[in-house]
Amino acid sequence: MSLSTKHLLGIKNLNANDIELIFQTADTFKGILQRPIKKVPSLRDTTIVNLFYENSTRTRISFELAEKRLGADTINFTASSSSVSKGETLIDTVKNILSMKVDMVVMRHQASGAPHFLSQHIPAAIINAGDGTNEHPTQALLDSYSIREKFNTLKDKKITIIGDIMHSRVALSNIYCLKKMGAKVTVSGPPTLIPKHIESLGVQVTYNVAEALEWCDVANVLRIQLERQNMPLFSTLREYSLYYGINKKMLDSLKKEILIMHPGPINRGVELSSDAADSHHSIILNQVENGVAIRMAVLYLLSGKTTS
Ligand code: CP
Repeated sequence: MSLSTKHLLGIKNLNANDIELIFQTADTFKGILQRPIKKVPSLRDTTIVNLFYENSTRTRISFELAEKRLGADTINFTASSSSVSKGETLIDTVKNILSMKVDMVVMRHQASGAPHFLSQHIPAAIINAGDGTNEHPTQALLDSYSIREKFNTLKDKKITIIGDIMHSRVALSNIYCLKKMGAKVTVSGPPTLIPKHIESLGVQVTYNVAEALEWCDVANVLRIQLERQNMPLFSTLREYSLYYGINKKMLDSLKKEILIMHPGPINRGVELSSDAADSHHSIILNQVENGVAIRMAVLYLLSGKTTS
């Protein structure tokens, strides 16, 4: 009933048993979330800070809701309106917050490795809510959980991840999670947005999106992360959309039904057309719904309250 790790810094450090335990715990919490009374007292008397140094809609709301559903006390910290703007360091900020008897830290940061660094300096459990271009573990868990929910298993399922693989923490965490759970993974997109040697992670590469769609059971479509690109890596968004964007006509012309996923936020009309995003292929809002149960599971399993 416990994870092999004290923190959730990335999927890289988890094993398949950890991931299965998170999924089974999320199954229980998902059942509770269907009830008229959606709250349980599992984390009563636990205080959690949501420390966001980078913008977020889904992840932040999902964590806060998960914490409230578990009966925890929550504090929301936004770097832009804090003393970070006066030069306070990450460690000083967190040590000050912890001195007010905060038990767990959920952290999003623009620097890859920031939660790993923090974990070496503070005693509280840390959950990575996305660090730079490194990992976004709870996104990958909710993505894999949503696929498992549709197919009952991840084993041998064919998942293609399409888009800006180079700058995507979602892609890396998804690759680790899917591979650990026995899925087959390809990545697809422009050569400039796919890291060299990515095959060493056990994935196949195709630059032909139509070929990737023909092969897969599920396509996880990613946003172009212009904010992380220091130089242009493709000509124009219009050209990107023309060669690498997914639309409903492409999905309807396939010989089989596939599922479309997207971690959000969607750039409608760039990587995914509205008619595809809103079609029966899409499980995008199921992903968001499942995020709350997955985050409840992670918070509960890392709280140290599993045996009490
Ligand atoms: N998927 C995701 O991380 O979305 P937000 O940036 O809105 O949290």
